[in-house]
Amino acid sequence: MNFIVAVDLDYGIAKNGGLLARLPGDLRFFKQKTLGNVVVMGRKTLESLPGQKPLAERENLVLTKDKNYHCPGATVLHSREEVLKWIKDHNISQEKVFISGGAEIYQLFMPDCCTGYVTEIKHHLAADRFIEKINQSSQWIETGRSQMQQENGYGYEWVTYQRKHRI
Ligand SMILES: NC(=O)c1ccc[n+]([C@@H]2O[C@H](COP(=O)([O-])OP(=O)(O)OC[C@H]3O[C@@H](n4cnc5c(N)ncnc54)[C@H](OP(=O)(O)O)[C@@H]3O)[C@@H](O)[C@H]2O)c1
Repeated sequence: MNFIVAVDLDYGIAKNGGLLARLPGDLRFFKQKTLGNVVVMGRKTLESLPGQKPLAERENLVLTKDKNYHCPGATVLHSREEVLKWIKDHNISQEKVFISGGAEIYQLFMPDCCTGYVTEIKHHLAADRFIEKINQSSQWIETGRSQMQQENGYGYEWVTYQRKHRI
């Protein structure tokens, strides 16, 4: 399983229910990675998307505790276990699953992930949602780093992490 996230220098991911920075190039990167695959997101992230609509041309799994929640075009599930069962029942390989936020959902599925696609925005952006600093974790190793991108006054790099095998 993969996770894909954009973080600032503090490993913040969100502010006031939205993203930290407008980075069209990073949205294209997200689309290129996830198109045709499965994205897993929390109800709050779904509702932060344009029109509160699921992402096109991807299977959207949305997590909520609310048993009455419906969202046309998305599969609504109610626990981590239900997500894992859905993936198994549909014979989806782990490489095709992208944990796509927000903070609660990254935390819930981090132990299931082996690869992380982290967009490192080189600024402090006063976030109000954070994820674990995997760049400081002994569990993860950096395996790739892009050239510095510049967009809308922000510098950022795409960094790939792999989970280290447990000894
Ligand atoms: N920087 C990035 O790459 C990135 C990526 C995605 C999102 N975001 C941002 O992240 C923010 C949202 O993050 P967030 O942490 O506030 O919310 P979130 O993780 O998107 O969604 C939280 C919701 O998920 C449901 N949920 C959580 N744990 C669950 C569980 N164990 N079982 C069933 N349902 C569960 C609950 O829904 P109910 O309350 O309905 O029960 C909970 O309120 C937004 O601002 C968004 O823009 C940033």
